[in-house]
Amino acid sequence: MNQDTQSIYPYPIAQHLRSHSQLIYGCMGLGGGWNENPIAKADIKQAQAVIETCLEHNINIFDHADIYTFGKAEQVFGEVLKQMPSLREQMSIQSKCGIRFADECGVKRYDFSATWINHSVDQILSRLHIEQLDVLMLHRPDPLADMEELVKTLSALHQSGKVKYIGMSNMHVSQLKYFQSLLPLPIICNQIELSLGSLGAINDSIEPSHHYDGLFEYSQTQNIQIQAWGALFQGQFTKEITDDTPMNVRHTASLINDLAQKYSVSKEAIVLAFLTRLPVAIQPIIGTTNLERITHCAQVNKCLLSHTDWYALLESARNHDVP
Ligand SMILES: NC(=O)c1ccc[n+]([C@@H]2O[C@H](COP(=O)([O-])OP(=O)(O)OC[C@H]3O[C@@H](n4cnc5c(N)ncnc54)[C@H](OP(=O)(O)O)[C@@H]3O)[C@@H](O)[C@H]2O)c1
Repeated sequence: MNQDTQSIYPYPIAQHLRSHSQLIYGCMGLGGGWNENPIAKADIKQAQAVIETCLEHNINIFDHADIYTFGKAEQVFGEVLKQMPSLREQMSIQSKCGIRFADECGVKRYDFSATWINHSVDQILSRLHIEQLDVLMLHRPDPLADMEELVKTLSALHQSGKVKYIGMSNMHVSQLKYFQSLLPLPIICNQIELSLGSLGAINDSIEPSHHYDGLFEYSQTQNIQIQAWGALFQGQFTKEITDDTPMNVRHTASLINDLAQKYSVSKEAIVLAFLTRLPVAIQPIIGTTNLERITHCAQVNKCLLSHTDWYALLESARNHDVP
């Protein structure tokens, strides 16, 4: 973390990720799209430009999943690492497994069997051209998981050195607690959808009633880093307003514009600062492939929203005041 970040953020980031950045780069947009085209030189060039821009701005955690652009996101990333091996030591790489697309064996499904997870991890390491994943995450909870087999598989992957840490994704508090009670390794992070446009976990911390009730508190006491996917809400608050833009999004976009001027940062920084202002020290994952936007996102490190401005954003995005 750079000097600016240290001076602005009083909150601790989970121990294991403390030496890394406040923002995470989400690699789902790399690899040339969700199609069967083989990767092209331009896709590798794009990945290199994105990686270099992120590292220039101290964004040094890269988020993958075995499924992103059907494996091509990891493939182009791996090609960059093969050409520039010294980059590896400057970053933390995480990936996810457990989702299987429809194939000759069946419909789209989640699969936490030892066979599938071991196969996925070997493929991930091979595509990325690395020996060890910093974090392996289970992408989405599988209600049919054989927990004994799963725990053995994850432990063995850790012991073999293929995986340094274990993380979760899209897990509720009760699922995290259950996993942690069985797994002899710490769960170091959990990725959830969270942004100004997807307020579930924040709304649940105000009016407990849904599945994220207590997530922030549990994560804090257990040192589980929360990572927010969809953090830019696909640019809906920062891109051009059209006739189709809903009124509350227009209002929030206008507020974001005012705040960007007030804090002398980009609009993207305000959208992300809404998340980083939470004491639970959320790490937003940014999925933009636009280099200028990555630079704009990095300005979040210069912005600590006031208590009142945070609530103004919340009220606007919720489209009504807090109870
Ligand atoms: N764990 C999970 O289940 C899960 C699920 C989904 C995603 N993720 C992770 O989270 C990362 C981010 O997710 P995400 O990509 O859905 O969310 P995001 O960062 O909110 O959105 C990125 C998308 O929004 C577009 N965008 C952003 N600002 C824009 C603007 N001002 N104007 C026009 N377009 C704009 C980007 O296009 P440009 O590239 O043109 O900027 C990109 O397509 C992914 O890469 C992945 O690593 C995890």
